[in-house]
Amino acid sequence: MRKFRVGAVGAGGIFKIAHVPGWKALPDVEIYAVCDVDLARARDIALEVGATHVTTDYRELVKLDLDAVDVCTPNKVHTPAVLAALEAGKHVLCEKPLAVSTEEVRAMGELADRKKLKLMTAQHFRFASSALAIKSWADAGHLGEVYHARVRAMRRALVPTTPGFIDANLAGGGPCMDIGVHALDTCMWVMGFPKPLRVTGTTKVNFAKGHKIHGMWGEWDRQRFSVEDFAAGFVHFENGATMTLEAAWLGHQTENEDMSFQLFGTEGGVKWPSGEYASVAGKTFVQGTLTYWQRIERPHSEEIRAFYECVVNNRPSPVPWTETIKVIAILEAIYESERKGREVTVKL
Ligand SMILES: NC(=O)c1ccc[n+]([C@@H]2O[C@H](COP(=O)([O-])OP(=O)(O)OC[C@H]3O[C@@H](n4cnc5c(N)ncnc54)[C@H](O)[C@@H]3O)[C@@H](O)[C@H]2O)c1
Repeated sequence: MRKFRVGAVGAGGIFKIAHVPGWKALPDVEIYAVCDVDLARARDIALEVGATHVTTDYRELVKLDLDAVDVCTPNKVHTPAVLAALEAGKHVLCEKPLAVSTEEVRAMGELADRKKLKLMTAQHFRFASSALAIKSWADAGHLGEVYHARVRAMRRALVPTTPGFIDANLAGGGPCMDIGVHALDTCMWVMGFPKPLRVTGTTKVNFAKGHKIHGMWGEWDRQRFSVEDFAAGFVHFENGATMTLEAAWLGHQTENEDMSFQLFGTEGGVKWPSGEYASVAGKTFVQGTLTYWQRIERPHSEEIRAFYECVVNNRPSPVPWTETIKVIAILEAIYESERKGREVTVKL
């Protein structure tokens, strides 16, 4: 019987470490084709997964008889690769950030809708036990109305060293786009995706051009470094809620990485990923830790399974573009606010 055929575009770190095990865990799926501008890398992965087609051009890959395309290239290549796959009639799973502007997200999303194809952003944190516990508890009403969120994606000395992350022409943004997107997406999902209205933000290069903090993942090209190494924002939502967002690859802090959010609601509060919650009953402070009923070992694999199942069962995308566009709009507005030196209206 013919298996579900996947074509991979971008066979680098995340595809090899997270996507290959995810696809391999699905018995009715085969990775049929691999595309990477680095031919040797594409060949290596194709050999490992038993793919029959290898190419350096995604426009060739999308012409093949595939069911879906999995895009794992540097951020700025996402849009042309996703649009080409959708134009060719393929469902698409694409790594985060789906794109670095709302205009691009809308172009992809509207094309997918027009062609009745699935488009999913690979936000794997939504599929982890910690986020699922908090989401389920919040959906049961324990937070009440969320009036404030504190979101952090702060690293001490973890700069991804490849050009795809540090060159603005390939990445389109630094930690704000790279890891801010994870914590922000997960937080917005728990909040139920309120509409962002206004943002004040800043982006800075504090350390990445110098040598004060050594990167724990090794050296990077300081000449080529053309994104921020720190970003912060303040968001106003249509429902009256507010949010602070901080993202960094380098900075003086004790934690190697603080990827977290905290929600403050009228009935309760909660922290991700710890699941610590707080509330009040009469004159008693109530607190504890949320535990999901299942332990999920590989959230990336769950994300890939969710994509596969939405395609074969014709269900809605588990991470639809209509949600992603609100996340990208906030991140885009942080950069715009830095450029304009003032608060900006979110483009939605
Ligand atoms: N969800 C996660 O946990 C997670 C983690 C890391 C990276 N990512 C995302 O995955 C994407 C890739 O990151 P990575 O760490 O694998 O980077 P990487 O640099 O290891 O791999 C990217 C690959 O894309 C290839 N490539 C570049 N341009 C291409 C093109 N035009 N056509 C085909 N291939 C091309 C490169 O040669 C490279 O092999 C990024 O968008 C990043 O934000 C997600």
